[in-house]
Amino acid sequence: MNVTIVGTGYVGLGTAIMLAYLGYQVTGLDYDEEKIQGLRDGILPIYEPGLAELLTAASPNLHWTSRYEDAIPQADFIFVCVGTPPLPDGHPNLAYLESAVRSIAQHLDGKPQIIVNKSTVPIGTGDWVMRTLEEHAALYATSHYEVVSNPEFLREGTALGDSLYPDRIVLGGSGWATERMRALYAPLIEQNFEAPAHVPRPRGYERPALVETTLTSAEMIKYSANAFLALKISYANEIAGLCECVGADIHEVTAGIGLDHRIGTRFLAAGAGWGGSCFGKDTSALISTGQDYGYNMPILRAAMSVNARQRSLVIEKLQKHLRLLKGKRVAVLGMAFKPDTDDLRDAPAHDFIARLCQLGATVVAYDPVAMPRARTEWGDLHYLEATSAHAALEGADAVIVATEWAEFRSMNWNEALCVMRNRVIVDARNIIREPLTVPAILEQIGRDH
Ligand code: UGA
Repeated sequence: MNVTIVGTGYVGLGTAIMLAYLGYQVTGLDYDEEKIQGLRDGILPIYEPGLAELLTAASPNLHWTSRYEDAIPQADFIFVCVGTPPLPDGHPNLAYLESAVRSIAQHLDGKPQIIVNKSTVPIGTGDWVMRTLEEHAALYATSHYEVVSNPEFLREGTALGDSLYPDRIVLGGSGWATERMRALYAPLIEQNFEAPAHVPRPRGYERPALVETTLTSAEMIKYSANAFLALKISYANEIAGLCECVGADIHEVTAGIGLDHRIGTRFLAAGAGWGGSCFGKDTSALISTGQDYGYNMPILRAAMSVNARQRSLVIEKLQKHLRLLKGKRVAVLGMAFKPDTDDLRDAPAHDFIARLCQLGATVVAYDPVAMPRARTEWGDLHYLEATSAHAALEGADAVIVATEWAEFRSMNWNEALCVMRNRVIVDARNIIREPLTVPAILEQIGRDH
């Protein structure tokens, strides 16, 4: 079976490499010539643990192109994985999707072909894609294609494990197309499927559940899953604030409530709140969809505002101890929106640095992986780069832990703090567990020190 992946961002690349690893002939298509040339030379445009090894293993089955005519006619499955970044009003920008669908339509072959929506697209897009194909496809191709929604649930940083050992595979569509999709994913559904050794099998994992739905329900599943996870984090953050008021400890509280199987312990880590390209975008898109129908979604609005409050809270905690930030030197540890990625989209660290600069502080930032990307993407910010966490702390008045990279968790904080001028720590990810033996002020989220 031949597969074409349109769009080689995080989702597209992960999907392409995973399907090539499963043995299919996969063509990755992107209009960015430079990216395609890099991929032909074995260079990944993103940082994702383990992906480079899988790329090498799967490379005999992978082909890269920037031309639709080279990738669409022979494909049995065409995965659409282009970006849908948010517009200022909260709706996703569908310009890339529309242009991709039109180009696909012009090169359909007339044999049965399945167009798979993998990008997170607004509810109703599946039907819209079908209509767009009908408008633009050559006459001979009519009625031989079908649109399926197959949303992606992978997380950056653990993308390989999430795609090779998924909890569920959602297929939204009808008839023969979902049947063919089931066949495509058959290797993953087999009970004894083993990913390569560097992708650990989750404890207790057996096989993915197969969820077959209508197109619209599949689209709805994707959005409501992300919004629910965002909501869960905001709930933990709201409870964390009350823990500080009453003198309780959020770790003890979330551990206690999470043991109820109906709640679960995951996605209850209080801190600087969520970032990244998905939770904020998808939650506001869901609110906007509601608005389009005159339907209000107060719970999701509250989740968004709690998340925004967390970011201001971090700066307020700093101000509480340093009072004036003007002229102070503040180290920011971690720039990526979460560990094990160089993705900077909607990263809390960006807001921290922007606010600190506005208040007249000098910022020294360090991230184990994301600094080169920040150099090109954060041209709006003024900060000094440090070569290590230790170097960032030298002579600083305060430090904000913005991302919970393993190296910050495991560093010897008592030793590291000694090089600071004043020792105010705002641990916005609650990673410091060792007792501090040097005199210091430690602020965490939802914990009373
Ligand atoms: C998220 C979803 O988890 C994926 O299932 C989904 O496929 C993806 O969005 C998407 O729509 O493409 P991702 O954004 O990569 O994945 O990252 P997560 O690991 O979910 O973390 C999101 C944010 O929540 C991060 O900023 C993280 O620091 C924060 N978070 C996570 C918390 O603040 N507390 C937690 O307990 C968990």
